[in-house]
Amino acid sequence: MAEVIVVDHPLVQHKLSLLRKSTTPTVQFRAIVGEIGQLLTFEATRDLPVEETTIDTPLATMAAPILSGRKPALVSILRAGNGMLDGFLSILPTARVGFVGLYRNEDTLEPVEYYFKVPPALEDRSVFVVDPMLATGNSAVAAIDLVKQAGAKSIKFICLLAAPEGIQRMTQAHPDVAIITASVDEKLNSNGYIVPGLGDAGDRIFGTR
Ligand code: URA
Repeated sequence: MAEVIVVDHPLVQHKLSLLRKSTTPTVQFRAIVGEIGQLLTFEATRDLPVEETTIDTPLATMAAPILSGRKPALVSILRAGNGMLDGFLSILPTARVGFVGLYRNEDTLEPVEYYFKVPPALEDRSVFVVDPMLATGNSAVAAIDLVKQAGAKSIKFICLLAAPEGIQRMTQAHPDVAIITASVDEKLNSNGYIVPGLGDAGDRIFGTR
């Protein structure tokens, strides 16, 4: 079973309830996705490697921790993942950013790559893959397949909502990838939407409904 971290902080849960409401307008929805993205990033990055450096405070010299190693990489699954970019970068502004674009082949129902651009040397970076919804898990698994092929070894997946079906699919395909989410919802419906969920995240972030 992949590690699943549900961030049950009251601020996250309050903001998530606002997102779920069908009457929340696009402008507010987009802002809140960013805010929750920021708070989830805080949790997802809690074990980033640090090293000690010697600094001078106004009063003394001390050994102080700073982030070590290469800059982390954020990989957004297009297009809804982009709604979480700004929140992530507000916490970790030095992160490198990549994008994965996938569409579903309507005959095979398999995800097909149409865009892939990621930072170099992924093998030396902590990699965070973001997509608001872990529904069937098909695109998350395909995106993580691609970042692993590009060399990534240390990967976490950050989403706003996860369905049990998506967690199971990720667990089978990528048991080494921890999932950080604000909620594990009840189920998927027959159209692949998370229930109770929040609807189509991409449409609600970008106002394309
Ligand atoms: N993608 C969405 O945007 N919403 C869902 O409920 C499932 C997948």
